[in-house]
Amino acid sequence: MAQLFPACQIDPGRLGPLLGPARGRFTIVVLAECSSTSTVLLERARQGAPSGSLLIADDQTAGRGRRGRSWLSSPSAGLTFSLLWRFAGTVARLAGLSLAVGLAVARALERLGATGVGLKWPNDILLGGGKVGGILVELETVPAGMLAVIGIGLNLQMPPAGDEAFIHPPAALSQALSPPPDRHRLLAELMIELAAVLDRFDAGGFAVLRADWQRQHAWQDRPVRLLDGERVDRQGICLGADEDGALLLQTATGIERCLSGDLSLRVA
Ligand code: BTN
Repeated sequence: MAQLFPACQIDPGRLGPLLGPARGRFTIVVLAECSSTSTVLLERARQGAPSGSLLIADDQTAGRGRRGRSWLSSPSAGLTFSLLWRFAGTVARLAGLSLAVGLAVARALERLGATGVGLKWPNDILLGGGKVGGILVELETVPAGMLAVIGIGLNLQMPPAGDEAFIHPPAALSQALSPPPDRHRLLAELMIELAAVLDRFDAGGFAVLRADWQRQHAWQDRPVRLLDGERVDRQGICLGADEDGALLLQTATGIERCLSGDLSLRVA
């Protein structure tokens, strides 16, 4: 029987000591409510917020998902936060960043004891086949290089039916972790893994994380469709991601690299 995650505001004072080696790398701000943690953090980033700024909101009134969709969650049912990370260099260095972030989230959930965690291209976190979390990475060029606002939403309980439920049936962490971890512990594990993965990504790009991502890839060698909205763009066998994070699809005419779209499993 699924247990409830109590609604609670994150206390930065409690979070700090749980961060272990990553302590001191984050500037933590908690809001009871905002439009979208990514929208607010992007604004703060433009005003000079430091790398490692972490914005957590109990409730979002206009949570955003990929491809213009909305992200629905409620304070007791979800964990919603955004992290600012600054990188030197150009946008080309950041290819595959959202996949790297997915790997960090999957590792954190597994460290907490969740089984059945998988990754789906480009940046969905699956649990037992359903979508338990999503990642929205937004990039901007700044004089010193690039900034990335990494927005992460996790379903602690089953979410309200959103506008993407037709492509991604939802899942909830409460299905895999009983009793559910304290939210501070969950967030701390996520931050520890994110700091480690972002450091590796910064040093070597997605190429150095690709093999680990492929191991977590839920749909390796499965028949899939790549959707553009509700239109089937391509279909083939899913071969995972290349070193730049592009989807590799074995089609009738060869291996194709795909840069955008939504994947769904093809039922024979
Ligand atoms: C997706 O699967 O489409 C990505 C969903 C990302 C949702 C998170 S919740 C925290 C952050 N703030 C937002 O408005 N969106 C991201």
